[in-house]
Amino acid sequence: MINVLVLMGGLSEEREVSLRSGLGVYDALKKVGYQARTLDLNRDNLDRIKEMNPDIIFIALHGKYGEDGTVQGYLDILGIPYTGSGVETSAICMNKGTTKKILCYEGIPTADFVIINKAEYLQNQQQNSLQIVEKLGLPLVVKAATQGSSIGVYIVKNQSELDSAIEAAFAYDREVVIEKFIDGPQLTVSIIGNEDPLVLPIIEITAANDFYDYESKYTPGMCEHLIPARISTSVEKQVIEISKKVYTSFKCQGYARIDFMIDKDDKPYVLEINTIPGMTAMSLVPDAARAAGISYEQLVDRVVCLAMQK
Ligand SMILES: Nc1ncnc2c1ncn2[C@@H]1O[C@H](COP(=O)(O)OP(=O)(O)O)[C@@H](O)[C@H]1O
Ligand SMILES: [Mg+2]
Repeated sequence: MINVLVLMGGLSEEREVSLRSGLGVYDALKKVGYQARTLDLNRDNLDRIKEMNPDIIFIALHGKYGEDGTVQGYLDILGIPYTGSGVETSAICMNKGTTKKILCYEGIPTADFVIINKAEYLQNQQQNSLQIVEKLGLPLVVKAATQGSSIGVYIVKNQSELDSAIEAAFAYDREVVIEKFIDGPQLTVSIIGNEDPLVLPIIEITAANDFYDYESKYTPGMCEHLIPARISTSVEKQVIEISKKVYTSFKCQGYARIDFMIDKDDKPYVLEINTIPGMTAMSLVPDAARAAGISYEQLVDRVVCLAMQK
């Protein structure tokens, strides 16, 4: 019997979500017939991983010290195979600014942006803030570069809101990404596979709040996942093509979820790549899989099998 250890919980702001993802995965693994255990990872129990001696690890951690390549690097050193992307991809995708730089290099559309650094920015706060609006206009979206679950994300409509949003985002991160607000529907694309990725049905997300914030993401009834998305065949085709290109150029493995905004002229923009997408009962990837006829258990099984094939 294959012995799978689910790493969950962890140290990031997304700890609670990770615990929910991890328990879902653990239940599914047992149903499929794996021998499954869980470990709520913290600074003091890293040694437990080696002691538990699993055949493979399912990383159900989100955010820092889980989705950012650090745990992946530790497991590489131990020689234990794990689900999802490797160190390099994880680290790159954890930073929304770095991700956007690479998207630009690859010619993949992403909203116009600037990246600001706390120490430099604060030296000349007022002028820097004015310059951002001059360059990008309003409204804008301010994001801590390395958070997830919409933590540290703010939509701003004027200069004074921009200043307080930047300050709030700097509380999470020394690096902040500021990008043009794209006014239009939001899509997300789930992909599974290694070299030959399978694009699952596109989901359109509608949120009761201003945007798809933390509350919308994790409170039942606060958002809707529409499958099929209400988009034209042409947008659908473009989004699928872009998603495949993102997945391969960022060298994603196992599974990932790519977030998009579509503007009024039907132009798609990539927001970010989630290398360990949520696996809670309410999460997007399990929904997309279900729409493709893949049950939650089958999805978990496939992600594990893809990890063993690496
Ligand atoms: N440029 C943008 N235009 C409009 N809405 C945005 C933009 N960037 C982010 N958002 C909103 O904020 C949410 C979170 O942003 P995202 O970049 O996906 O970060 P994360 O999900 O990691 O917190 C998105 O799901 C979307 O609702
Ligand atoms: Mg997102």
